[in-house]
Amino acid sequence: MLVIESLNFSYGHVQTLYDISMVMRPGSITAIMGRNGVGKTTLIRNIAGLARCQSGNIRIGETELTSLPPHARARKGIGLVPQGRQIFPKLTVEENIQIGLQARKDTIKKVPEEIYEMFPILAQFRSRYGGDLSGGQQQQLAIARALAGDPQVLLLDEPTEGIQPNIIQSIGGILQQLARTKSMTIVLVEQYLDFVKKITNYFYVLNRGRVVAGGETKDLSEEIISLHLKV
Ligand SMILES: Nc1ncnc2c1ncn2[C@@H]1O[C@H](COP(=O)(O)OP(=O)(O)OP(=O)(O)O)[C@@H](O)[C@H]1O
Ligand SMILES: [Mg+2]
Repeated sequence: MLVIESLNFSYGHVQTLYDISMVMRPGSITAIMGRNGVGKTTLIRNIAGLARCQSGNIRIGETELTSLPPHARARKGIGLVPQGRQIFPKLTVEENIQIGLQARKDTIKKVPEEIYEMFPILAQFRSRYGGDLSGGQQQQLAIARALAGDPQVLLLDEPTEGIQPNIIQSIGGILQQLARTKSMTIVLVEQYLDFVKKITNYFYVLNRGRVVAGGETKDLSEEIISLHLKV
């Protein structure tokens, strides 16, 4: 279980996140929603340790993460699929995924076949450069890289941004499978409402750095949508 308690974060003097408290459960997918610029990525970066909160705390189960740097959090089970994918264009598919292996507790050096079974297109393009893949393939590569670290908690920041519908659908299926079969705790930043309704179990909505709504996705109301999500 990923727990965030009373987290406050500022960029310099500009406060961006206010008193954020959230619980994300193993075996489920939790959506973090909200319009552009409300603080979704900032929150994800705080969980991954790429940004450091001024107060509050973050833990997985009983394990406190708040004071740990990003690589130590990765070792404790946090996997990140960043916004914009950030794959390495001049490395091959295989090399990109190998970078994810560094976060593992064991010391295997070979990408587990299971990952290629999940993403057959990556198996086929193993020795191509990351930069030569399509956007959707790069997104799958970014997910594969995070999974190579064998995470307990998988953070995905807008994985459907600019991706074609059939790949979105396939990514959705994989996330549901990971939650179900590996009891993974999946945190999905997402603005694409239909995708949220289709694959997530719980949701939180941010507005101007605050949690303004949350609950089970089946209870996500039209009122919340028009108040906090519609552009
Ligand atoms: N490095 C930074 N320094 C200062 N301010 C920043 C920085 N990064 C983001 N911000 C500001 O913090 C606020 C939250 O940004 P953030 O990227 O977390 O939003 P977001 O909800 O992820 O938006 P989007 O949907 O566009 O990805 C915005 O006002 C943004 O301009
Ligand atoms: Mg963002």
